[in-house]
Amino acid sequence: MLDSFGRKIEYLRLSVTDRCDLRCQYCLPKKFNHFLEPESWLTFDEIERVIRLFSELGVQRIRLTGGEPLTRKNIVELAQRISTVEGIDDLSLSTNATRLQHLAKPLKAAGVSRINVSLDTLDNANYRRITGGLLDKALSGIDAAYEAGLSPIKINMVLMKGINDHEVDEMVTFCMARNLTLRLIETMPIGEPGFEATAQYVNLQSIENRLAKKFAAVPGHMPGGGPARYLKAGESGAHIGFITPKSQHFCETCNRVRLTADGQLYLCLGQNDKVDLATPLRTGVTDDGLLNILEQAILAKPEKHEFNDKPYQVLRFMSTTGG
Ligand code: 5AD
Ligand code: SF4
Repeated sequence: MLDSFGRKIEYLRLSVTDRCDLRCQYCLPKKFNHFLEPESWLTFDEIERVIRLFSELGVQRIRLTGGEPLTRKNIVELAQRISTVEGIDDLSLSTNATRLQHLAKPLKAAGVSRINVSLDTLDNANYRRITGGLLDKALSGIDAAYEAGLSPIKINMVLMKGINDHEVDEMVTFCMARNLTLRLIETMPIGEPGFEATAQYVNLQSIENRLAKKFAAVPGHMPGGGPARYLKAGESGAHIGFITPKSQHFCETCNRVRLTADGQLYLCLGQNDKVDLATPLRTGVTDDGLLNILEQAILAKPEKHEFNDKPYQVLRFMSTTGG
């Protein structure tokens, strides 16, 4: 289905919980614990129904996000149910990897094909400082994902000046050696922690130029349909991605909408426009009625974010919509 700017919407990011076992400094406040009540979470039946209707409108890809999606009970069963919905041909996952050690294999068997992992540093103390968690857990999760055959594995590194920007080259080498695809990300002003982190904003342009020279890289491409631009490193053929919402926005090719754990459909990561699906789902809406709500919602998708012009407008945390 096309939105009112002619963009084909074929991708749904599904946040299955806003809870997380980490507190990344650009996403959640350190002591934050005020999450949605489980009663408000869409049930697996409700989720499956919404996805079946999205698929009728042309959505083919689903990504499970959070919070940390692997903290949701029975996530493997949910993956299994989603991956078998007719018309869904790509199921992926964004995770911090802390629980992947045991879940990678079952998730792969349930139809998850590829994953993105948040990893901002390779230094134990820095990892603790940025996320509040243990680096080793994330690293063993990544190893387990590799062994389970999840592919590609993309590593998301959010860059912050003076915090982890000195670790870029080490992270490139780490990823190249393990056949992981690194993506560097500019901080986005989303929620209070995101506002604060944008004070350490790093424009990726100069890093891209520097890495292109160092690795004799040429423009590359990775499947995934997302906003990253890729360089392909000459010798190894490894890809390095750059996600630049602030310095070079990519809204004209946006193909996605986002559903929160409590059934709110957000139409743009950088705007507050949303449509409530939970109420109609819980008051007996028909399939046709719900299809109509989804169509109207997609037609109301905003043209673009305004991270530069209106940097304080999105108050919800990143963990609400899962990036
Ligand atoms: N700016 C940029 N990226 C963010 N993420 C979370 N919060 C922010 C932010 N304020 C990233 C996470 C994860 C992805 C889903 O979004 O690191 O990799
Ligand atoms: Fe959790 Fe991801 Fe937010 Fe980090 S960025 S606190 S891992 S939801």
